[in-house]
Amino acid sequence: MKTIDELLAEGVSGKRVFVRADLNVPLADGQITDDGRIRAVLPTVEALTGAGAKVIVASHLGRPKGAPDPAFSLLPAAERLGELLGKPVAFAQDTVGPAAHAAVDGLEPGQVAVIENLRFNPGETSKDDAERATFADELAALADVYVGDGFGAVHRKHASVYDLPARLPHYAGYLIATEVGVLQKLTEEVQRPYAVVLGGAKVSDKLGVIDNLLEKADRILIGGGMVFTFLKAKGYEVGASMLQEDQIPVVQEYLKRAEEKGVEFVLPVDVVVSGGFPDLKAKEPTHPDTVPADAIPAGQVGLDIGPATAELYAAKLADARTIFWNGPMGVFEHPDYAGGTRAVAQALLDSPAFTVVGGGDSAAAVRLLGFDENAYGHISTGGGASLEYLEGKTLPGLAALED
Ligand code: 3PG
Repeated sequence: MKTIDELLAEGVSGKRVFVRADLNVPLADGQITDDGRIRAVLPTVEALTGAGAKVIVASHLGRPKGAPDPAFSLLPAAERLGELLGKPVAFAQDTVGPAAHAAVDGLEPGQVAVIENLRFNPGETSKDDAERATFADELAALADVYVGDGFGAVHRKHASVYDLPARLPHYAGYLIATEVGVLQKLTEEVQRPYAVVLGGAKVSDKLGVIDNLLEKADRILIGGGMVFTFLKAKGYEVGASMLQEDQIPVVQEYLKRAEEKGVEFVLPVDVVVSGGFPDLKAKEPTHPDTVPADAIPAGQVGLDIGPATAELYAAKLADARTIFWNGPMGVFEHPDYAGGTRAVAQALLDSPAFTVVGGGDSAAAVRLLGFDENAYGHISTGGGASLEYLEGKTLPGLAALED
């Protein structure tokens, strides 16, 4: 994989460089609530502008349905990028149309333009190779060189991630190089004990990674909504908590395999419950209760791991030498259910281990709960991407940068 340093050495002055970033940031009422992914692409954009390139930054945001949708405009991200760069950033209101061409034609060396959300074009995410190819051809007409730096999207076989690099000289940006370096440490030269904390709502999203980690990790700690499928698999009642009934046999098989392999599978011993899902906008106090994990009352919804579990998990992380954490432990957006996620975030800091926070919600949780992100070994910008890497899958956006 050629990196941006090689591109800089070859010289980029006056060249149009297409940077595929992942500016898919969370928005609330049009405001960015966590700009981590925008800050993560700054080193690449700054190096290119510093070397006199004309930089075109492109990304998806959310999941629009292949047509323009103002709710998913990339404009707020473009504005924030301009603020962080400390210079104006042009914004094109289309992806490959007249506005994009005018914005790129108007660039002077060292300037930056952002084009509109790539997913406003149906060719970006199409499963039809020819449709993706057509869009990739149109994107290629905007640039001379491609730099892949949208780590969060490398697991997607999308036109701008997979097809476009084949059409232009291509290089990996600094973010992708860093992310891949860290994930290699977790797969190739892992220091033991290796503990993995997995949270998030659905166990079905984590099956592949659990399967793979059963071969690699020493301890797997479970939190978040998927806890209840595990508890049910052990024969406990889970009240009105989130449950994926169809996954129970798979989960039972994992628990059995973990025992056979000597992998410690750690489940909550207590759970914070309430009569319903809290209103995340109003954030009004609710009436939470803590109950043993094997005695969740009928009608109650589990919304966080309990304090005894938080203590247990902290103890399981204290002597680890490598920790990977993906997925919040509870509904951390509401203060009544943030305790478990906060405890895990703190336990990572207290442990001498090399700590990796894997993407998306857990990275946002760390920042929103006020932790110093620089105190962690690495905070990945890729949720699904880092999980699929750890599953051992070939990621289209990395494969496309290889040759
Ligand atoms: C993410 O948020 O994980 C990436 O930006 C990819 O987004 P997607 O899951 O909508 O493809």
